[in-house]
Amino acid sequence: MLCSCGNNKPGTGKPGVTKELFGKLPDGRSADIYTLVNNHGMIARITNYGGIVTSLMTPDKNGKLADVVLGYDRLEDYLKDSPYFGAIVGRYGNRIAGGKFSLDGVEYTLARNNGPNHLHGGIRGFDKVLWDAESFQNETGVGLKLTYLSKDGEEGYPGNLRVTVIYNLTNKNELSISYEAETDKATPVNITHHGYFNLAGAGNGDILGQELTINAGRYTVVDNTLIPTGELRDVKNTPMDFLSPHKIGERIGQVDGGYDHNYVLDNWDGTLHMAAIVDEPVSGRMMEVLTTEPGVQFYSGNFLNGSNIGKGGKAYQKHAGFCLETQHFPDSPNHPDFPSVILLPGKKYHHFTVYRFSAK
Ligand code: BGC
Repeated sequence: MLCSCGNNKPGTGKPGVTKELFGKLPDGRSADIYTLVNNHGMIARITNYGGIVTSLMTPDKNGKLADVVLGYDRLEDYLKDSPYFGAIVGRYGNRIAGGKFSLDGVEYTLARNNGPNHLHGGIRGFDKVLWDAESFQNETGVGLKLTYLSKDGEEGYPGNLRVTVIYNLTNKNELSISYEAETDKATPVNITHHGYFNLAGAGNGDILGQELTINAGRYTVVDNTLIPTGELRDVKNTPMDFLSPHKIGERIGQVDGGYDHNYVLDNWDGTLHMAAIVDEPVSGRMMEVLTTEPGVQFYSGNFLNGSNIGKGGKAYQKHAGFCLETQHFPDSPNHPDFPSVILLPGKKYHHFTVYRFSAK
Protein backbone atom coordinates (compact mmCIF):
# COMPACT_ATOMS: atom_id res chain seq x y z
CA MET A 1 0.00 0.00 0.00
CA LEU A 2 1.28 3.45 -0.84
CA CYS A 3 0.64 6.16 1.68
CA SER A 4 1.48 9.81 1.21
CA CYS A 5 0.77 10.68 4.85
CA GLY A 6 4.25 9.66 6.02
CA ASN A 7 2.86 8.29 9.26
CA ASN A 8 5.01 5.79 11.07
CA LYS A 9 2.32 3.14 11.46
CA PRO A 10 3.06 -0.23 13.03
CA GLY A 11 3.09 -3.28 10.79
CA THR A 12 0.33 -5.79 10.29
CA GLY A 13 1.89 -8.55 12.42
CA LYS A 14 2.22 -10.95 9.46
CA PRO A 15 5.81 -12.06 8.63
CA GLY A 16 7.12 -10.29 5.54
CA VAL A 17 8.06 -6.87 4.23
CA THR A 18 5.82 -4.00 3.16
CA LYS A 19 6.93 -0.77 1.53
CA GLU A 20 5.31 2.65 1.78
CA LEU A 21 6.20 6.16 0.82
CA PHE A 22 7.85 7.91 3.80
CA GLY A 23 8.07 11.36 2.26
CA LYS A 24 9.78 13.62 -0.25
CA LEU A 25 13.29 15.02 -0.09
CA PRO A 26 13.82 18.72 -0.89
CA ASP A 27 15.06 17.70 -4.39
CA GLY A 28 11.77 15.92 -5.08
CA ARG A 29 13.00 12.35 -4.73
CA SER A 30 10.91 9.96 -2.66
CA ALA A 31 12.11 8.16 0.42
CA ASP A 32 10.41 4.88 1.26
CA ILE A 33 9.86 3.13 4.53
CA TYR A 34 9.92 -0.64 4.84
CA THR A 35 8.15 -2.55 7.59
CA LEU A 36 9.87 -5.85 8.34
CA VAL A 37 8.07 -8.43 10.47
CA ASN A 38 9.74 -11.67 11.52
CA ASN A 39 7.93 -14.86 12.42
CA HIS A 40 7.83 -13.95 16.15
CA GLY A 41 6.07 -10.68 15.39
CA MET A 42 9.12 -8.51 16.02
CA ILE A 43 8.95 -5.43 13.78
CA ALA A 44 11.63 -3.15 12.33
CA ARG A 45 10.84 -0.07 10.25
CA ILE A 46 13.68 1.16 8.07
CA THR A 47 13.81 3.99 5.56
CA ASN A 48 16.22 4.18 2.65
CA TYR A 49 16.90 7.81 3.66
CA GLY A 50 20.09 7.42 5.70
CA GLY A 51 19.33 3.73 6.20
CA ILE A 52 17.55 4.85 9.35
CA VAL A 53 15.89 2.30 11.62
CA THR A 54 12.94 4.44 12.71
CA SER A 55 11.29 1.86 14.94
CA LEU A 56 12.12 -1.51 16.48
CA MET A 57 9.35 -3.31 18.32
CA THR A 58 10.64 -6.00 20.66
CA PRO A 59 8.81 -8.12 23.27
CA ASP A 60 9.17 -7.78 27.05
CA LYS A 61 9.02 -10.70 29.50
CA ASN A 62 5.22 -10.88 28.99
CA GLY A 63 5.48 -10.74 25.21
CA LYS A 64 4.32 -7.12 25.07
CA LEU A 65 5.95 -5.16 22.25
CA ALA A 66 7.55 -1.75 22.76
CA ASP A 67 9.53 0.42 20.42
CA VAL A 68 13.08 0.40 21.81
CA VAL A 69 14.73 2.96 19.51
CA LEU A 70 14.53 6.74 19.51
CA GLY A 71 13.41 8.46 16.34
CA TYR A 72 10.76 10.48 14.59
CA ASP A 73 7.37 9.76 13.04
CA ARG A 74 7.99 11.90 9.96
CA LEU A 75 10.73 12.19 7.35
CA GLU A 76 10.69 15.99 7.62
CA ASP A 77 11.84 15.77 11.25
CA TYR A 78 14.83 13.65 10.20
CA LEU A 79 15.58 16.20 7.48
CA LYS A 80 15.41 19.10 9.92
CA ASP A 81 17.45 18.03 12.92
CA SER A 82 18.48 14.56 13.96
CA PRO A 83 21.47 13.62 16.11
CA TYR A 84 21.95 10.57 13.83
CA PHE A 85 18.89 8.74 15.30
CA GLY A 86 19.04 5.15 14.00
CA ALA A 87 21.16 6.03 10.97
CA ILE A 88 24.04 4.46 9.10
CA VAL A 89 27.04 6.68 9.63
CA GLY A 90 30.05 6.92 7.35
CA ARG A 91 32.24 7.11 5.36
CA TYR A 92 34.05 7.52 8.69
CA GLY A 93 31.91 7.10 11.79
CA ASN A 94 33.24 9.03 14.83
CA ARG A 95 35.82 11.82 14.80
CA ILE A 96 38.87 12.70 12.71
CA ALA A 97 41.06 15.34 14.35
CA GLY A 98 40.97 18.70 12.61
CA GLY A 99 39.23 17.01 9.65
CA LYS A 100 42.67 16.10 8.26
CA PHE A 101 44.64 12.97 7.46
CA SER A 102 47.45 11.99 5.11
CA LEU A 103 47.57 8.95 2.87
CA ASP A 104 50.53 8.07 0.65
CA GLY A 105 51.96 11.57 1.16
CA VAL A 106 48.77 13.42 0.19
CA GLU A 107 46.94 15.48 2.81
CA TYR A 108 43.14 15.30 2.66
CA THR A 109 40.83 17.88 4.22
CA LEU A 110 37.34 16.94 5.36
CA ALA A 111 34.48 19.08 6.65
CA ARG A 112 34.81 20.27 10.23
CA ASN A 113 31.28 19.74 11.48
CA ASN A 114 31.99 19.17 15.19
CA GLY A 115 34.00 22.00 16.69
CA PRO A 116 37.47 21.69 15.19
CA ASN A 117 36.87 18.08 14.12
CA HIS A 118 35.19 15.95 11.47
CA LEU A 119 32.33 13.78 12.80
CA HIS A 120 30.33 10.90 11.30
CA GLY A 121 31.26 11.44 7.66
CA GLY A 122 30.79 15.21 7.48
CA ILE A 123 28.02 17.60 6.56
CA ARG A 124 26.23 15.15 4.29
CA GLY A 125 27.34 11.76 5.52
CA PHE A 126 25.75 8.37 4.83
CA ASP A 127 22.99 9.26 7.31
CA LYS A 128 21.70 11.98 4.95
CA VAL A 129 21.78 10.27 1.55
CA LEU A 130 19.16 8.25 -0.27
CA TRP A 131 20.17 4.61 -0.62
CA ASP A 132 18.93 2.17 -3.26
CA ALA A 133 16.89 -0.48 -1.49
CA GLU A 134 15.74 -4.00 -2.12
CA SER A 135 13.83 -6.05 0.42
CA PHE A 136 14.03 -9.81 0.83
CA GLN A 137 12.57 -12.68 2.79
CA ASN A 138 14.25 -16.04 3.25
CA GLU A 139 14.51 -18.88 5.76
CA THR A 140 16.61 -16.73 8.17
CA GLY A 141 14.10 -13.88 8.33
CA VAL A 142 13.34 -10.67 6.49
CA GLY A 143 15.67 -7.93 5.39
CA LEU A 144 16.60 -4.88 3.44
CA LYS A 145 19.67 -4.51 1.21
CA LEU A 146 20.85 -0.92 0.81
CA THR A 147 23.46 0.24 -1.68
CA TYR A 148 25.12 3.59 -2.20
CA LEU A 149 27.94 4.93 -4.35
CA SER A 150 29.94 7.52 -2.45
CA LYS A 151 31.75 9.42 -5.20
CA ASP A 152 35.44 10.29 -5.26
CA GLY A 153 35.81 13.58 -3.35
CA GLU A 154 32.50 13.31 -1.49
CA GLU A 155 32.93 15.18 1.82
CA GLY A 156 36.63 15.33 0.94
CA TYR A 157 37.30 11.56 0.93
CA PRO A 158 39.35 9.96 -1.85
CA GLY A 159 37.99 7.22 -4.10
CA ASN A 160 34.65 6.01 -5.39
CA LEU A 161 33.32 3.82 -2.61
CA ARG A 162 30.59 1.27 -3.37
CA VAL A 163 28.81 0.46 -0.14
CA THR A 164 26.32 -2.31 0.66
CA VAL A 165 24.53 -2.51 3.99
CA ILE A 166 22.23 -5.42 4.69
CA TYR A 167 19.78 -5.26 7.58
CA ASN A 168 18.39 -8.66 8.52
CA LEU A 169 15.61 -9.06 11.04
CA THR A 170 16.12 -12.71 11.83
CA ASN A 171 13.72 -15.28 13.21
CA LYS A 172 15.98 -15.41 16.29
CA ASN A 173 14.91 -11.84 17.17
CA GLU A 174 18.16 -10.31 16.00
CA LEU A 175 18.71 -7.21 13.94
CA SER A 176 21.95 -8.03 12.16
CA ILE A 177 23.81 -5.52 10.00
CA SER A 178 26.34 -6.49 7.38
CA TYR A 179 28.48 -3.74 5.88
CA GLU A 180 30.67 -4.16 2.79
CA ALA A 181 32.55 -1.64 0.68
CA GLU A 182 34.98 -1.49 -2.23
CA THR A 183 37.00 1.45 -3.48
CA ASP A 184 39.09 2.50 -6.48
CA LYS A 185 41.55 4.60 -4.39
CA ALA A 186 42.91 4.05 -0.88
CA THR A 187 40.51 5.60 1.63
CA PRO A 188 39.60 5.40 5.30
CA VAL A 189 36.36 3.51 5.96
CA ASN A 190 34.56 3.09 9.28
CA ILE A 191 30.84 2.54 8.90
CA THR A 192 28.50 1.96 11.82
CA HIS A 193 24.93 2.14 13.03
CA HIS A 194 23.82 4.97 15.27
CA GLY A 195 20.75 3.52 16.99
CA TYR A 196 19.74 5.15 20.27
CA PHE A 197 18.24 2.39 22.42
CA ASN A 198 15.98 2.53 25.43
CA LEU A 199 14.94 -0.99 26.41
CA ALA A 200 12.08 0.40 28.50
CA GLY A 201 10.68 1.95 25.33
CA ALA A 202 11.59 5.17 23.51
CA GLY A 203 10.38 8.23 25.39
CA ASN A 204 9.74 6.17 28.53
CA GLY A 205 12.20 7.90 30.87
CA ASP A 206 15.98 7.68 30.83
CA ILE A 207 18.38 4.76 30.49
CA LEU A 208 20.30 5.35 33.74
CA GLY A 209 18.74 2.31 35.46
CA GLN A 210 19.61 -0.09 32.62
CA GLU A 211 22.46 -2.48 33.32
CA LEU A 212 25.38 -2.56 30.97
CA THR A 213 28.25 -4.98 30.47
CA ILE A 214 31.04 -4.19 27.98
CA ASN A 215 33.63 -6.80 27.17
CA ALA A 216 36.50 -4.32 27.24
CA GLY A 217 39.35 -3.91 29.70
CA ARG A 218 40.54 -0.66 28.10
CA TYR A 219 39.24 2.45 26.40
CA THR A 220 40.76 5.16 24.23
CA VAL A 221 41.50 8.22 26.37
CA VAL A 222 40.32 11.45 24.70
CA ASP A 223 41.12 15.14 24.90
CA ASN A 224 38.48 17.78 25.54
CA THR A 225 37.32 17.66 21.89
CA LEU A 226 36.86 13.86 22.18
CA ILE A 227 39.91 13.02 20.06
CA PRO A 228 42.01 10.06 21.30
CA THR A 229 45.34 11.01 22.83
CA GLY A 230 46.68 7.60 21.77
CA GLU A 231 46.61 6.16 25.29
CA LEU A 232 44.64 2.92 25.84
CA ARG A 233 43.78 3.04 29.54
CA ASP A 234 42.80 0.21 31.86
CA VAL A 235 39.21 0.50 33.13
CA LYS A 236 40.09 -1.22 36.41
CA ASN A 237 38.92 0.66 39.54
CA THR A 238 37.35 3.44 37.51
CA PRO A 239 33.74 4.39 36.59
CA MET A 240 34.62 3.25 33.05
CA ASP A 241 34.64 -0.40 34.15
CA PHE A 242 31.67 -2.35 32.73
CA LEU A 243 33.42 -5.72 32.64
CA SER A 244 30.77 -6.81 35.12
CA PRO A 245 27.22 -5.39 34.92
CA HIS A 246 26.63 -1.88 36.28
CA LYS A 247 23.69 0.44 35.98
CA ILE A 248 24.58 3.14 33.44
CA GLY A 249 23.70 5.84 35.98
CA GLU A 250 25.60 4.32 38.90
CA ARG A 251 28.85 6.20 38.35
CA ILE A 252 27.98 8.52 35.46
CA GLY A 253 28.34 11.59 37.70
CA GLN A 254 32.05 10.78 38.03
CA VAL A 255 32.56 10.86 34.24
CA ASP A 256 33.01 14.36 32.87
CA GLY A 257 30.10 15.03 30.50
CA GLY A 258 28.84 11.43 30.74
CA TYR A 259 29.93 8.38 28.78
CA ASP A 260 31.06 9.11 25.22
CA HIS A 261 34.03 6.78 24.84
CA ASN A 262 35.38 4.15 22.54
CA TYR A 263 35.96 0.86 24.33
CA VAL A 264 38.75 -1.42 23.13
CA LEU A 265 37.11 -4.84 22.93
CA ASP A 266 39.00 -7.74 24.48
CA ASN A 267 40.31 -10.58 22.34
CA TRP A 268 39.59 -8.90 19.02
CA ASP A 269 40.47 -11.08 16.03
CA GLY A 270 38.00 -9.90 13.39
CA THR A 271 35.50 -12.73 14.05
CA LEU A 272 32.09 -12.23 15.66
CA HIS A 273 32.43 -11.69 19.43
CA MET A 274 30.16 -10.55 22.24
CA ALA A 275 30.82 -6.84 22.76
CA ALA A 276 28.11 -5.69 25.17
CA ILE A 277 24.94 -6.69 27.00
CA VAL A 278 22.20 -4.40 28.30
CA ASP A 279 19.46 -5.51 30.73
CA GLU A 280 16.36 -3.52 31.58
CA PRO A 281 15.16 -4.82 34.94
CA VAL A 282 11.47 -3.81 34.79
CA SER A 283 10.48 -5.05 31.31
CA GLY A 284 13.07 -7.86 31.45
CA ARG A 285 14.30 -6.89 27.98
CA MET A 286 17.88 -7.75 27.18
CA MET A 287 19.99 -6.72 24.22
CA GLU A 288 23.27 -8.42 23.30
CA VAL A 289 25.64 -6.77 20.85
CA LEU A 290 28.04 -8.95 18.89
CA THR A 291 30.53 -7.60 16.40
CA THR A 292 33.56 -8.26 14.23
CA GLU A 293 34.89 -4.74 15.00
CA PRO A 294 37.70 -3.87 17.48
CA GLY A 295 35.81 -1.11 19.30
CA VAL A 296 32.47 0.14 20.47
CA GLN A 297 31.55 3.74 21.19
CA PHE A 298 29.36 3.85 24.28
CA TYR A 299 27.45 7.13 24.20
CA SER A 300 24.94 7.80 27.00
CA GLY A 301 22.88 10.42 25.13
CA ASN A 302 24.58 13.29 26.95
CA PHE A 303 23.74 15.94 24.36
CA LEU A 304 20.00 15.20 24.24
CA ASN A 305 18.23 18.09 25.95
CA GLY A 306 14.52 17.79 25.22
CA SER A 307 14.71 19.79 21.99
CA ASN A 308 14.15 16.72 19.78
CA ILE A 309 10.45 15.86 19.91
CA GLY A 310 10.30 12.22 18.94
CA LYS A 311 7.68 9.63 18.03
CA GLY A 312 4.29 10.19 19.59
CA GLY A 313 5.28 13.76 20.55
CA LYS A 314 7.67 12.65 23.29
CA ALA A 315 10.60 14.97 24.02
CA TYR A 316 13.92 13.17 24.36
CA GLN A 317 15.64 14.48 27.46
CA LYS A 318 19.28 13.97 28.45
CA HIS A 319 20.07 10.22 28.68
CA ALA A 320 16.79 9.23 26.96
CA GLY A 321 18.76 6.65 24.97
CA PHE A 322 22.19 5.06 24.70
CA CYS A 323 24.23 4.15 21.64
CA LEU A 324 26.59 1.21 21.23
CA GLU A 325 28.33 2.00 17.94
CA THR A 326 30.51 -0.89 16.84
CA GLN A 327 33.50 0.53 15.02
CA HIS A 328 37.19 1.06 14.60
CA PHE A 329 38.76 3.54 17.00
CA PRO A 330 38.14 7.29 16.54
CA ASP A 331 40.74 9.22 14.56
CA SER A 332 42.45 6.01 13.42
CA PRO A 333 43.75 7.63 10.19
CA ASN A 334 46.01 9.77 12.44
CA HIS A 335 47.06 6.93 14.76
CA PRO A 336 49.25 4.44 12.89
CA ASP A 337 49.34 2.22 16.01
CA PHE A 338 45.53 1.74 16.00
CA PRO A 339 44.06 -1.09 13.85
CA SER A 340 44.08 0.18 10.25
CA VAL A 341 40.96 1.67 8.65
CA ILE A 342 42.50 2.11 5.21
CA LEU A 343 40.68 0.22 2.47
CA LEU A 344 42.78 -0.45 -0.62
CA PRO A 345 41.53 -1.01 -4.18
CA GLY A 346 40.97 -4.72 -4.80
CA LYS A 347 40.20 -5.35 -1.10
CA LYS A 348 36.81 -5.57 0.59
CA TYR A 349 35.70 -3.82 3.77
CA HIS A 350 33.62 -6.14 5.98
CA HIS A 351 31.87 -5.36 9.23
CA PHE A 352 29.18 -7.51 10.80
CA THR A 353 27.20 -6.61 13.92
CA VAL A 354 24.26 -8.29 15.60
CA TYR A 355 21.81 -6.68 18.03
CA ARG A 356 20.08 -9.67 19.66
CA PHE A 357 16.91 -9.23 21.71
CA SER A 358 15.35 -11.42 24.38
CA ALA A 359 13.45 -11.00 27.65
CA LYS A 360 13.41 -12.74 31.03
C1 BGC B 1 29.28 10.74 19.48
C2 BGC B 1 28.78 11.89 20.30
C3 BGC B 1 27.84 12.69 19.45
C4 BGC B 1 26.72 11.78 19.02
C5 BGC B 1 25.64 12.43 18.20
C6 BGC B 1 28.12 9.93 19.04
O1 BGC B 1 28.55 8.89 18.24
O2 BGC B 1 30.22 9.98 20.16
O3 BGC B 1 29.84 12.68 20.76
O4 BGC B 1 27.34 13.79 20.13
O5 BGC B 1 27.26 10.74 18.29
O6 BGC B 1 26.02 13.43 17.43
